[in-house]
Amino acid sequence: MVTKIAVLGSINMDFICNVEEFPKPGETIKASNFITQPGGKGLNQAVAASKLGADVIMFGLLGNDIFGKQLEKIMNKTDINIDAVKTYDSSTGLAFINVNRKGENNIVIVPGANQKLDKKYIDHHIDIMLEADILLVQLEIPLPSVKYIIKKLGNEDIRIILDPAPAVELDEFPLENVNLLTPNETELDKIIKGTTYNKGIKKLFKRGLNSLIVKKGKEGSEYFSDITNYHIPAYQINEVDTTGAGDTFNAALAVALLEGKCMKEAMKFANVAGALTATRKGAQTCPSREEVEKILSRI
Ligand code: RIB
Repeated sequence: MVTKIAVLGSINMDFICNVEEFPKPGETIKASNFITQPGGKGLNQAVAASKLGADVIMFGLLGNDIFGKQLEKIMNKTDINIDAVKTYDSSTGLAFINVNRKGENNIVIVPGANQKLDKKYIDHHIDIMLEADILLVQLEIPLPSVKYIIKKLGNEDIRIILDPAPAVELDEFPLENVNLLTPNETELDKIIKGTTYNKGIKKLFKRGLNSLIVKKGKEGSEYFSDITNYHIPAYQINEVDTTGAGDTFNAALAVALLEGKCMKEAMKFANVAGALTATRKGAQTCPSREEVEKILSRI
């Protein structure tokens, strides 16, 4: 069954350096390798969902520079519907990523055109967005625009999965309209601001959040709702580059849920897809559907 997923989010060109260790303040170091690759949490999720078998439509902005043109060419070669991706008179979103020998990363983004995605763009595209069964959204586009779309879709028949990355405090955020919030542990810390894990999560549910999945990398993922809580162990791999693994997780989860898998099975599927992404260099290295299925049949 083909499922329809809308992704509203960032489109970046990633500049990726492989380093032994992250540079300390004031230090100059040599990279062992450098590549440019398409990225952006929005586009990464769109590419992953499409690779895993969903019918995907992308909503986002490119800049009118060389990177925008390169990204457009690349996107045109995918199965993603990019009719709603527009070019804005600005630079394209960029991400500067260091990956260390443990496969960990740190990322500096220059939002460029992503920052121009406003309410007008959303109003213009909302009817097409509503044809989807799930909306995947992250926080690399302006926060007011994310709040706006989530408020607007509140009474509509579309599920919203919000990836709160890069993390911000989600005060005054319409959490009651979010079906699933998917922070990693660092992002959750920022959202709950120094409160204990349990108290912080309870507060989110008091504010109306429907459910929460905490992405824990090598520790798997943990599901919370106001009535239940369970942990799904990770598929163990040797991490080469964790960039984009969380994006694949979200995309895979959406695909599995739309295909009717229960939450536990969907998380298993997403854990495997995310883990396999971390075995390869770059952010858009989501495995094929067959690769994920093959592993799932063995574990
Ligand atoms: O989640 C990974 C992504 O974060 C990278 O592709 C980079 O573009 C940044 O947005």
